[in-house]
Amino acid sequence: MQPLSIHIDPTRCNGCKICVNICPARAFNVIDKKAVLTGSCSFACDHCAAACPQSAISVEFVASETFDFTSSPNDQGQNSSDTPISLPSLVLLMRSRRSCRLYQKKSVEKNILEDLVKIAITAPSGTNSQKWTFSIIDNRNRVIKFGAEIAAYFRKLNRQAELAWLRKTLKFCGRPELDFYFKEYFESVNDGLNLWYEKGEDHLFHGASATIIIGAHPGASCPQDDALLATQNILLAAENMGLGTCLIGFAVEAMRRDRKIQTTLNIPTHEKIYSVIALGYPEIAFQRPTARRKININWVD
Ligand SMILES: Cc1cc2nc3c(=O)[nH]c(=O)nc-3n(C[C@H](O)[C@H](O)[C@H](O)COP(=O)(O)O)c2cc1C
Repeated sequence: MQPLSIHIDPTRCNGCKICVNICPARAFNVIDKKAVLTGSCSFACDHCAAACPQSAISVEFVASETFDFTSSPNDQGQNSSDTPISLPSLVLLMRSRRSCRLYQKKSVEKNILEDLVKIAITAPSGTNSQKWTFSIIDNRNRVIKFGAEIAAYFRKLNRQAELAWLRKTLKFCGRPELDFYFKEYFESVNDGLNLWYEKGEDHLFHGASATIIIGAHPGASCPQDDALLATQNILLAAENMGLGTCLIGFAVEAMRRDRKIQTTLNIPTHEKIYSVIALGYPEIAFQRPTARRKININWVD
């Protein structure tokens, strides 16, 4: 969804390019030392405004959600004696987590990655099956190798998607997926592939130095739910530890479609993968949390 408007205040902007580097849709440019919006803001993620050190960017949504709470009378929440963390602190942690797309070269220590997995498994799981699986890549070179396998998958997919006759035939046979992919993703994936192969730029893992791949053994009652709840635990705990994270849906999709990728990671093919998290130390600190669109609650009588 597009935001209502993005406004850049040229009197505040100092041309630092943080918005250029942080925007996942690559919608910004700096021209004559001032940020300008040259592309389409397809993510409406609010990252540009949240990261701008000059507060020069404002993103207006149709209506943004406020984060005032009415359920707790004070800062500590109603059960402050039982709860080790206040509600405002908890929500601030949740609101501060951002998808990080710019990482330092620094590696994430093995013991931190291990701790994140221990924190992950405090999540609930359907019928308490705890059949989640975790695979960790802790060095940048291996992340790049993983990325190359994913890029190769998407290069092949894009070559197929380019063929209009193939898209039409599959659609005619009741398989519209390739046609949908072509309309929705072909162009942005193509841009990403060109940057990967021609410039060595990593717009897949965004330069992350580690990844955690979360899956499930067969036989869990709700494997995807379990894996994603464990995933969210990692995202929040990592934020609290000063790490940046980003879910990489493209990697999950490639691993699902090309089981060889899983084999090269020594992940048995009977495990199903539900999330891939890129991790690392963030290059840029966000100045404030991002906005969220207004939600309408359906109160059921
Ligand atoms: C299931 C899922 C898959 C995602 N896949 C990608 C991805 O492949 N690449 C990426 O840069 N961001 C990915 N994201 C991050 C979203 O773009 C991001 O969560 C959204 O723009 C909101 O920004 P925030 O996470 O900073 O709040 C994914 C998020 C989810 C939930």
